[in-house]
Amino acid sequence: KKVVLAYSGGLDTSVIVPWLKENYNCEVICYCADVGQAEELENLEERAKQQGASKIIKLDLREEFCKDYLWPLIKSGAVYERKYLLGTSIARPLIAKKQVEIAWAEGADAVAHGCTGKGNDQVRFELAFTALDPRLKVIAPWREWNIQSREDALAYLAAHNLPAPTKNPSFFSRDRNLWHISHEGGNLEDANSEPHEDMFVLSSSPFAAPDEPETVEITFEQGEPVALNGVPTPPVKLVETLNALGGKHGIGRIDLVENRLVGMKSRGVYETPGGTILMFAHNELESITLDRETMHYKDVLAHKYSELVYFGLWFTPLREAMDAFFQSTQKVVTGSIKVKLYKGNMIVAGRQSPYSLYREEFATFGHSQVYDHTDAAGFIRLFGLPSKVQAMMKGLGEGI
Ligand code: ARG
Ligand code: SIN
Repeated sequence: KKVVLAYSGGLDTSVIVPWLKENYNCEVICYCADVGQAEELENLEERAKQQGASKIIKLDLREEFCKDYLWPLIKSGAVYERKYLLGTSIARPLIAKKQVEIAWAEGADAVAHGCTGKGNDQVRFELAFTALDPRLKVIAPWREWNIQSREDALAYLAAHNLPAPTKNPSFFSRDRNLWHISHEGGNLEDANSEPHEDMFVLSSSPFAAPDEPETVEITFEQGEPVALNGVPTPPVKLVETLNALGGKHGIGRIDLVENRLVGMKSRGVYETPGGTILMFAHNELESITLDRETMHYKDVLAHKYSELVYFGLWFTPLREAMDAFFQSTQKVVTGSIKVKLYKGNMIVAGRQSPYSLYREEFATFGHSQVYDHTDAAGFIRLFGLPSKVQAMMKGLGEGI
């Protein structure tokens, strides 16, 4: 009788409002999560009402998105399939969590989303719903109706005397938030074709970027970014500023053929300008502050964490346990990294930390008191002992 719909105002969710009323005879509450998708949010209330929503609830989740989702992601160092910074994946659990809370507050018995039946997002939403409240009924119109294309969707709206949300709905399937924008579909479906320059939204082409490099200094405290160029900067502002800066210098474009959770490979192009700089700087800071064993093991876990996030397994004991591990490693990840941005490249231009384990006096090629060259000989003999025994077993003599 009452459904909370995750509503973006795009073509798909615009069709869903009248469709739910028609097919489920229910009251539809449109819920719009502001996770930093910017201009896409204009005149949302008006449109939802027109389409028949009984209520529209808009929540600004940007700060929470940074602190509880993006910061853990940065600390983990997780990257899916070598490239993807998980921009869409990381936002879904938060959007779904608030949707469940709204369902509770409004006494709704169902939740709905506009994800297609072929993608990852349906899985992420529904795994979150079921983890947080398995009693809620889930309605996924894309898996039920016979609307197959943009044209079908536009025809449905026209048949119901409803205007299309935008004059020219994009050929691309896009998802934007504070961290990134994704592009899928359109000419990208041909993995052998290059994206057109006019597709990009957050970044200029590296080829058209300024001829002068620009340097930004990022300060982290226990793994969380807190200041830019020495000026303390709150989370949302910090990511926005780096997006603008990175975008200007053509940073953070990714073109990827990825393995979806539902089995098929799909091709996507992502722009993550600020996130790319943050991940890069954070890695640099870890390079001086983490001990070798912790860093190497953390990298193993980061790979698993990227799968948990991509697969929608956020609300699970394993994700929580892994966050506790990453958090513990970040106690020393405090300091500042200078990054020079130049035509799509990031060049490290300085690293400092009160917890730095890097000691010039140990590493120097010059004479040193702390490191005795002659110690190395015995170390190598013992470290190489297993290799020596292998060789002996293969008949290469008895060694010396
Ligand atoms: N392929 C990416 C992911 O699975 C991006 C998905 C974009 N979602 C969308 N509704 N356009 O995370
Ligand atoms: C969708 O199918 O709704 C978007 C793409 C994805 O979820 O992977």
